[in-house]
Amino acid sequence: MVAHDALRQAQIALSHGSGAMPALGFGTLIPDPLATRQATKTALEVGFRHFDCSERYRNEQAVGDAMQEVFRAGTIRRKDVFVTTKLWNNNHRAERVKPAFEASCRRLQVDDVDCYLIHTPFAFKPGDEQDPRDEHGQVIYDTGVTLVETWRALESLVDEGRCRAIGLSNVDLEKLQEIVEAARIKPAVVEVESHPYLPEWELLDYCRRQGIVLLAFAALGHAMEPRLLDDPVITAIAQRLHKTPAQVALAWAVQRGTALLTTSVTPSRIRENFELSTLPEDAMQEIRDGMATKIRFNSVVGTGVPGFIPGGR
Ligand SMILES: NC(=O)c1ccc[n+]([C@@H]2O[C@H](COP(=O)([O-])OP(=O)(O)OC[C@H]3O[C@@H](n4cnc5c(N)ncnc54)[C@H](OP(=O)(O)O)[C@@H]3O)[C@@H](O)[C@H]2O)c1
Repeated sequence: MVAHDALRQAQIALSHGSGAMPALGFGTLIPDPLATRQATKTALEVGFRHFDCSERYRNEQAVGDAMQEVFRAGTIRRKDVFVTTKLWNNNHRAERVKPAFEASCRRLQVDDVDCYLIHTPFAFKPGDEQDPRDEHGQVIYDTGVTLVETWRALESLVDEGRCRAIGLSNVDLEKLQEIVEAARIKPAVVEVESHPYLPEWELLDYCRRQGIVLLAFAALGHAMEPRLLDDPVITAIAQRLHKTPAQVALAWAVQRGTALLTTSVTPSRIRENFELSTLPEDAMQEIRDGMATKIRFNSVVGTGVPGFIPGGR
């Protein structure tokens, strides 16, 4: 039995915006609403205080129901929980941002959110269709709005006190720099795929210098092949330190200074993923230097269309 330490309670102060983000975050990209509600409730009960949502996940209502159920029990309050949600691609036009934000708040049953992100830098045809396609099945992009214009609309939400911080997701370094340079309110958070097979050191280095939190999604490699949790470097460290491979990968993410998102619908794994303790420096170094595999699993960054690809790309 490994003793716990402060790692699982780690918080990262937001330099742009206010408050602090718990480094250990629970992702709600879970297709089934009932499973979403149960997993969110379990995550709150085991100690997660940071939840990542999106209008695109179409389950904000279930996340909101779970939070309300737990809040009603009285031990956890809304202000104890850091809630992030995201604007989807069909709502990039400035006039669509606030209505989309308010619809998310209604479904999540919160008055405001701690962090609001632009889910991808790709604008799709404005309208109610989240995945607009032409007669050939091709995505219909919107060339009538720029990312900077969408960013300005998010800045207005901060001005109005509706969210404490704003940020981007699925951007590369170049796009991030463009927004940092144009922004009146700088991005507080950048959410991208990152794990030992995709460490994104250059982006992390830039984020550190700019006071931006890198929020790593798919921190366990989304359980896809090639399986990060079966990697010999990770499993050897886990065995040596009497931790599970997931605990090794998650502790590594927190200790190198990122926040992270992990997801599970399995109660025992939700608990396992919260029960982190600090890795010694040599283990951190082994993970940094010892990964033979380099892979990106999610293709959303290239097209704006979400999807994990088996085998990566
Ligand atoms: N911004 C974006 O575009 C974007 C894209 C993708 C994801 N995200 C966010 O990031 C979150 C996390 O992403 P992810 O789902 O890829 O996370 P992940 O934690 O890397 O992968 C989740 C998978 O790992 C399994 N798993 C979880 N804990 C485990 C453990 N201790 N041992 C073995 N397997 C374990 C889960 O299985 P079971 O559920 O069966 O237990 C599930 O299949 C999402 O929920 C979402 O909030 C954002």
